[in-house]
Amino acid sequence: KIDARESLYLVSEYANSYFQKILHSTDQGKAIGLSYFKERGFTDEIIKKFQLGYSLDQWQAFTDDALGKGYKLEFLEKTGLTIVKEDKRFDRFKGRVMFPIHSMSGRVLGFGGRILTNDKKAAKYLNSPESDIYHKSKVLYGLYFAKQTIAKENNCYLVEGYTDVIQFYQTGVKNVVSSSGTALTPEQIRLINRLTANITVLFDGDAAGLRASLRGIDLILEQGMNVKVCTFPDGEDPDSFAKSNSLAELQDYLDANAKDFIQFKASILVEEANNDPIKKAETIRDIVNSISKIPDAIKQEVYIQECAQIMDISENVLFSTLAQISKKDF
Ligand code: CTP
Ligand code: MN
Ligand code: MN
Ligand code: MN
Ligand code: MN
Repeated sequence: KIDARESLYLVSEYANSYFQKILHSTDQGKAIGLSYFKERGFTDEIIKKFQLGYSLDQWQAFTDDALGKGYKLEFLEKTGLTIVKEDKRFDRFKGRVMFPIHSMSGRVLGFGGRILTNDKKAAKYLNSPESDIYHKSKVLYGLYFAKQTIAKENNCYLVEGYTDVIQFYQTGVKNVVSSSGTALTPEQIRLINRLTANITVLFDGDAAGLRASLRGIDLILEQGMNVKVCTFPDGEDPDSFAKSNSLAELQDYLDANAKDFIQFKASILVEEANNDPIKKAETIRDIVNSISKIPDAIKQEVYIQECAQIMDISENVLFSTLAQISKKDF
């Protein structure tokens, strides 16, 4: 007898092969889904590697197919593949291109589905809901494909989205994962930390939430990891940048623009404070707060020295602020 979680895995794996079959072997799949991926610059090889698919633009094509194959409605509903409303059933991902999300060992846990129109009212991406097999906070998109290269390169690039991961991988930067639009969690960081102590966070050029995202990085420092950050030119994200550059150009850009996180944060905060004493004081507390998260006392000291220079303030003030903050923490 198959247990309930295994049933969720099986139905997800079936859906994954179904969506790929639709993409590669139906007129609608080829005309709409496959040409969409081709336009984004994805090769056949990468489309197959990442097991990309397409969900027909019909209300219940997938659900009917899966029920016909003997998969139970209960499990279709629990994985979120089917939405049940009274006596009606709907395919959650109707008319979307499909990005399967894998566990570290390669099992399919859930999906992200992207809309193909520019309909601003519909969500650009729909994602599988939490289920007994899919816990968003514990999964990183792309990790299954990236894990070996992360260990080998001893660094992990963290990007915002699915297409950033795929385009980087195709270009040849394979040590890349994404938290898929959600705030990074301690569990996700632990997954990376098992493979490398070095992480480079890549921000979209739109950078609306840059300041907010900087806060999340303290979680990475807390785990004792070394963090660099890198931004992209206005309007570009890792996907668009990798699409229009060669591997050498991309690697050069990353090497030239990845900055140590604490130094980066100190310099943008200084810029923002812009000679306003009150703001500058807040800023100093903010940066020292980040430094206080670093478990290694020697690293803390080095960062204090550097930030004193960047922010033009005495090391003593920074050290006593650090002592105050650390006291509050315990
Ligand atoms: N995201 C989401 N739901 C949305 C928008 C975004 O889940 N409505 C997640 C997706 O995982 C997406 C990531 O947040 O990949 C980053 O968002 P964004 O930068 O807006 O999308 P891109 O990945 O750049 O997508 P695309 O290039 O396809 O427009
Ligand atoms: Mn569980
Ligand atoms: Mn974005
Ligand atoms: Mn983006
Ligand atoms: Mn994009």
